[in-house]
Amino acid sequence: MAPKQTFLPFPEHFRFGTAVSSFQVEGNSGERKSDWDVFLQGHPGMVKPNEVGPEWWKKGKAEADIDLMATLGMQVQRLSFEWARIEPEEGEINHEALKRYREIIDHLHKNKITPLVTLNHYTLPQWIARKGSWENSGIVSAFEKYVSVVAHEFGDVETWITLNEPGVLVESGYLLPFFPPQRVGLLSAIRAHRNMLQAHKHAYTVLKKIIPHSQISMAFDFRLYRPQNPHDPFEMLYANLVNYFDSLNYVDGVKDWIDFIGCNFYAGYFLNLDLFKIRFRLHGPQIAPLRSILFGEVRKANAYVSDVGAPIVPGFFLELLQILNKRYHKPIIITENGIADRRDYHRPFYELVHLVSVWRAIQLGVDVRQYLVWSTVDNLEWLEGYRQEFGIVHVDAVSGERTVRPSAYLYRDIIAARGIDITKLLSEYFQGEQKEKAEMLIHHLLTHHPKDSLKNLVVSSNKS
Ligand code: BGC
Repeated sequence: MAPKQTFLPFPEHFRFGTAVSSFQVEGNSGERKSDWDVFLQGHPGMVKPNEVGPEWWKKGKAEADIDLMATLGMQVQRLSFEWARIEPEEGEINHEALKRYREIIDHLHKNKITPLVTLNHYTLPQWIARKGSWENSGIVSAFEKYVSVVAHEFGDVETWITLNEPGVLVESGYLLPFFPPQRVGLLSAIRAHRNMLQAHKHAYTVLKKIIPHSQISMAFDFRLYRPQNPHDPFEMLYANLVNYFDSLNYVDGVKDWIDFIGCNFYAGYFLNLDLFKIRFRLHGPQIAPLRSILFGEVRKANAYVSDVGAPIVPGFFLELLQILNKRYHKPIIITENGIADRRDYHRPFYELVHLVSVWRAIQLGVDVRQYLVWSTVDNLEWLEGYRQEFGIVHVDAVSGERTVRPSAYLYRDIIAARGIDITKLLSEYFQGEQKEKAEMLIHHLLTHHPKDSLKNLVVSSNKS
């Protein structure tokens, strides 16, 4: 590619959109009986009584956000269905809940936005939690039954994610006591891991039977770990092992039962073997805390970071996409990519440079089909309540008032042009130091060779 190219066109079939999950946007409705509802009741203060968020369960609220997404040009909306609403007690199907999801799906169709549905985004019905959550192998057939009910109702949905981020869930709920069910133990983690992969395979089979043309995967949580010193074989081995246990083993476990790779990417890290220097840095528990003891030099290099300290490293994203392509030869959908940034200072930068990475990956032969920003609107960020803001649209957690952020307009311009007009976007959305850094980083991303050091692709920050 000529480094001087200033317009980066996306292939005609490529789709852009945004993503949310049901529990995070539906609001605190009393009738939902999930393990997370019980967990939040047990932790008053995580969500304040007057905080309701985007309230998608209320008729009209999801619809208004979908209308807004349509005006921004979105083509895909990822959302999830809440098992605890659809099957509040074992074997009892709530047809009212199915009706509400039907309204939302129909509204997406009406706006020519393709729905991409996640069947399970962390939360479980309380009746399953009482029986041991993912530790109990009975969950596999229970999940299969729930999936079969949903598939019979939603034959018009083509693209499905069975489980969101099994890696985060195993780690945060079964190895560490952060997420429900807070059952810490290696055996618990091994059982949960095994049952999640089994549940995926069963769900895959049942979905394919009922909706033969469906496209199915998991949304895997990928970070990429690279050695601080790429010439040190031990550090290289260490980084490869961490990547394997952190994420790749989940893909390996289901690789014959996925039609594409669902890729959630937020950040990557350099690792080193200087164990004495490793300090426990808690970046916010939802960023899988175990990993924070492994974080190497990226933060010390003072990279631009999000509100939760996650470094902005699109070069790692580019490299990850190439690794996934080489290892699995499957199409890739970016099911989540985004940043916690209340001020929307870094988000336009983040979106731009990650989309440049996607474009470059496609040029290098990686079959990336869709890119979905996390998230459509600010929402309930798990343990952080409404205190972390990932939305391209700001939502006042109490009044529910929406404000479109500049990053939404930058994304709109890329979608409208079906490509990245570098000069135009840089002059319209950036200035000063940030503009220079974006320019330099884009140049590096467009000319990066797999053998080059990723260190060129870390933007250091004087201010943020
Ligand atoms: C999860 C989302 C979460 C986001 C930001 C992802 O790992 O799938 O539910 O809101 O990260 O932390």
